[in-house]
Amino acid sequence: MHKLVSVAFLVFVSWSTLAVSSPSGIPCYQSIFSFGDSFADMGNNPVVFKWYSIFDPVTRPPYGTSFFGRHTGRNGDGRLIIDFIAENLGLPYVPPNLAHNGSFRRGANFAVGAATAVDAGFFHKRGIPSATSKFLLNTSLGVQLEWFESMKPSLCRTAQECKKLFGRSLFFVGEFGVNDYHMSFQQRTVQEVRSFVPDVVATISKAIERLITMHGARSLVVPGVIPSGCSPPILTRFADASLTTISIRLQDRLSESI
Ligand SMILES: *[C@@H]1O[C@H](CO)[C@@H](O)[C@H](O)[C@H]1NC(C)=O
Ligand SMILES: *[C@@H]1O[C@H](CO)[C@@H](O)[C@H](O)[C@H]1NC(C)=O
Repeated sequence: MHKLVSVAFLVFVSWSTLAVSSPSGIPCYQSIFSFGDSFADMGNNPVVFKWYSIFDPVTRPPYGTSFFGRHTGRNGDGRLIIDFIAENLGLPYVPPNLAHNGSFRRGANFAVGAATAVDAGFFHKRGIPSATSKFLLNTSLGVQLEWFESMKPSLCRTAQECKKLFGRSLFFVGEFGVNDYHMSFQQRTVQEVRSFVPDVVATISKAIERLITMHGARSLVVPGVIPSGCSPPILTRFADASLTTISIRLQDRLSESI
């Protein structure tokens, strides 16, 4: 799992641009704001799953056992990529907006495990997932942006103050897309799911534009999707198809469009 995330990051992040500190030694980034799904969620999913009365396996061992010594809501036994980035930038672990009772001035993490890029309505309209499934959370990228925007008045007051804060912040927009595709793959043909790619890409692009133009974001990381064809649920679903090829094509479409 962690290996896959690293690969996704390597494709999209040019590390040379992520200087740890300026020549004066002052850290380049005052805070981190993160949007995404389980690859970045540091504790929101137990809160959201409770809203929907869904059992959340991450609240049990072995989650958290190899680093924190307790479960933290992360979808892993230790730290996520974003934890290591925060550590290396000398910033605190990015507090999950739904689970943290305290200041968000040094960052906020709006990511929720199982979140999709496009809004729930997009899937509802297409009957995905089946009517009996509860697994479509209202935590899309658009919803996460709304959470960010309602938190904004507590982070900065004047337009100038906000521009300064966000101009010195590092924004993560993703990974997004894996849940849009994987959830749909359970019920739709590859052809149909492929037709969703432009909507996913457009949603991510619009969010990036909104962060830049409306909020003054200047440094953004947009991680790519994982190679879905290697993931066990997809390998099981398409046991006899050459899914690796499909995954590569999806990736190509994504990188072309972004
Ligand atoms: C949040 O923290 C404040 C003080 O830091 C405390 O008074 C309050 O009860 C806390 N709220 C929750 C929901 O834990
Ligand atoms: C989803 O969440 C957003 C933001 O919290 C809210 O405005 C919207 O009404 C919710 N939609 C549904 C269908 O619950």
